[in-house]
Amino acid sequence: MIISIDGPAGSGKSTVASILAKKLGFIHFNSGSLYRAITAYLIANNVDVKNLSNSSLLKDLKLEVKFLFDEQHVFVNDIDYTNDLRNTTVSTLTPIVSIQPKVRSIADNAQRKIAKTNNLVIDGRDIGSYVFPNAEIKFYLDCDITERARRRKKELKNESLTLKEIEKMLLERDTFDKNKKIAPLVIPNGAIIIDSTNLNIDQVVNKMLKHIKIEKIS
Ligand code: DC
Repeated sequence: MIISIDGPAGSGKSTVASILAKKLGFIHFNSGSLYRAITAYLIANNVDVKNLSNSSLLKDLKLEVKFLFDEQHVFVNDIDYTNDLRNTTVSTLTPIVSIQPKVRSIADNAQRKIAKTNNLVIDGRDIGSYVFPNAEIKFYLDCDITERARRRKKELKNESLTLKEIEKMLLERDTFDKNKKIAPLVIPNGAIIIDSTNLNIDQVVNKMLKHIKIEKIS
């Protein structure tokens, strides 16, 4: 069974997906980690990601996801990049890497392979719309921009960015994600929309659990 959670940056998808997966006994699959791991691999191999279309490294790239002690690990050509996924350079360059068609097809294959043998709660930007259009249950998690910026600021404990600066960055990300040529961020067909602006994490998870029960019964 696949439960997809799509939505804009900072809407809380990953946190909610992780808790929901635990409650259901499913695996939590964070799809953004795939694009981040490929980016970390390219950086480690001194590839200029801005001129990626000609890179021979992408041709034979082996991307694997393993769940070790319930934690998702992403391997590229047998090296575990899990600890390198969240640094600023990787975060800045991943959007550029993630729009390459070859990168997307490598990531799509990795996701579909895991889904063959596991029940997943999977979060991302194109899951219910593109990677798993037949997912049994699809959610689209939305949230007001000011609230998303406030949450992001809380996460970025050591950064001196102001709320307005974070808000501007998130709006730029929204524009980029929604206007990508391949797999843009959209509300997937048949998705249940949840606005988390005035809800805490537990309230969002409970709403999702209620929908899952209704869908399963009907
Ligand atoms: O959710 P995140 O910040 O970890 O995502 C990292 C990058 O990968 C971001 O640029 C959006 C992109 N991404 C994507 O294109 N498709 C997905 N399903 C998930 C993430």
